[in-house]
Amino acid sequence: MNAAALSPGDRMLVKAAEEAMNRAYAPYSRFHVGAALLDAEGGVHHGCNIENAAYGATNCAERTALFRAIADGKKAGSFQAIAIIGNTEAPITPCGVCRQVMVELCDPDMPVIMSNLQGDFEVSTVSQLLPGAFTPISLTKGEQPHS
Ligand code: THU
Repeated sequence: MNAAALSPGDRMLVKAAEEAMNRAYAPYSRFHVGAALLDAEGGVHHGCNIENAAYGATNCAERTALFRAIADGKKAGSFQAIAIIGNTEAPITPCGVCRQVMVELCDPDMPVIMSNLQGDFEVSTVSQLLPGAFTPISLTKGEQPHS
């Protein structure tokens, strides 16, 4: 699908994600990813992937945006949408860890706009991207009996 069919607001969010992509710190994979998270007040929180010589310490663009917004005082569940962009053939798709973090910090129905530099996009929701997720509610009956 082409970006012509995205709403002007969604197009703006994809553009913001592309700006963030240019700030990726990815000397190992050289795979640059950008994200832009729209908060309840219309503010945009940018995220890029930030890699590390100890590869496991790498942070994806989506989590960078989400963690920044939370650290800046925004509330879990209050976000309107997130856009993600990469230089991929098909629209970029978030990794499993980022899906889990989105389930924790975003409304299940929050739109996730996945895109690429050619202007292709796909729109899904947080719950559609991780069906059967382990959520905060899953913890409520999870206490183990004392032995
Ligand atoms: N990456 C993201 O930032 N977001 C995604 O949705 C997929 C993967 C990053 C992690 C790593 O820095 C690089 O892309 C290659 O996996």
